[in-house]
Amino acid sequence: MTQFTRAKRPESSALQRALDRPDDAGLISLALGKPAPELLPAAEVQEAAQAVLLEGPSALQYGIPNKSLKSHIVQLMGLRGVECREDQLLLTTGAQQALALLAQLFLSDRSSAIMVEEAVYPGLMLATAPYSPAVVTVPVDLSKGFDVEAAEYALQTGIKPAFIYAMAVGHNPLGVTMNTENRLAMVDFATRNSLHVVEDDVYGLLQYEQRSEVALRSLCENWIFYIGSFSKILAPALRVGWILAPEQFIPALSALKEGLDLNTVTFAQRVVARYFDIHSIAGRIEYLERHYRRRRDAMHDALERHLKHEVRWCKPSAGFYFWVESDRFGDASELLEDAIANGVSFVPGRAFRAGKDKDFSNAIRLNFSQCPTESIEEAIARLAFTLRAKKHCVASQRA
Ligand SMILES: Cc1ncc(COP(=O)(O)O)c(C=O)c1O
Repeated sequence: MTQFTRAKRPESSALQRALDRPDDAGLISLALGKPAPELLPAAEVQEAAQAVLLEGPSALQYGIPNKSLKSHIVQLMGLRGVECREDQLLLTTGAQQALALLAQLFLSDRSSAIMVEEAVYPGLMLATAPYSPAVVTVPVDLSKGFDVEAAEYALQTGIKPAFIYAMAVGHNPLGVTMNTENRLAMVDFATRNSLHVVEDDVYGLLQYEQRSEVALRSLCENWIFYIGSFSKILAPALRVGWILAPEQFIPALSALKEGLDLNTVTFAQRVVARYFDIHSIAGRIEYLERHYRRRRDAMHDALERHLKHEVRWCKPSAGFYFWVESDRFGDASELLEDAIANGVSFVPGRAFRAGKDKDFSNAIRLNFSQCPTESIEEAIARLAFTLRAKKHCVASQRA
């Protein structure tokens, strides 16, 4: 069933609040989508930053968006199957600002609507909440990703969304990657109905199977607003991302960004550009994929070993997350308290809910990027222990 709600007033997300919590020495976190700390290239970024500073004080001055970085992004988009030009790019302060800018562009007329899946990245809801759009939700399909048929059905109600939000590869939180057929169906649906698609591809460069899935944007230039980021492939603290948009929208988006932060952060842009002048983009991605593939496999194997009969999951082919469902969770938010007491954390499915139909209390999101493989094994063992202890507790209360 498709349904509509209004976006709520913004408040900081459960994920952001989790970031605020001091690290508990004994706790293994499977909660946040952070890159592995040991894979953040501190020495190389220091070298790049030093080189930029040695170029003179202009490094610390107001400046225009960095051209050299745009040329690296054009090359990087080639790895996503996309041909593009520098003048179709807007550099942003991370993908999160890209979402905020597109929300501002598309939703400033207050009668707007957006179309999202029932489980959605909460940052999208925060970015759109100031405009209180109607939210048209599409049921989750874990087998093939965005459910185009359900979206077609939703349109028949007469509400035309200002944009559809889609993650074709390494969905957060569902872990699913759209197959080729579904990807073609989605682009066909968008073009036939003249609908903009905001394609959030922050995990698109981290894929773990032999065949690499291309971006939706590679199939359609006019309707897709593509969002990319260096957060997951280089360092989130640098806050560098981009929008690849139809060229005619770039001046408006640039003006909106100027209103927010005068088109900065140019220093970080120069550091990223300098880093990729020296280090190969493809090499960096291959290195990360090798490490994250091992962690993904370790989590899958640990789930098989410890929880095979209690929970359901699909092994993700990209991104940072497993979406795990079980009727035995009861309310996963309550389970989280027990899990933390047993030394493991995760994000309850409810944190990602977009509509009213489903509350996902029977689901949790597990992150595998942050922990070394041994810790992943231990974390899943603790989760299994928590689940069994809860079952035992419920049974003894009934007796
Ligand atoms: C789906 C998704 N989009 C956007 C972002 C924000 O990325 P950035 O750090 O580039 O702002 C995240 C961060 O985790 C994310 O998971």
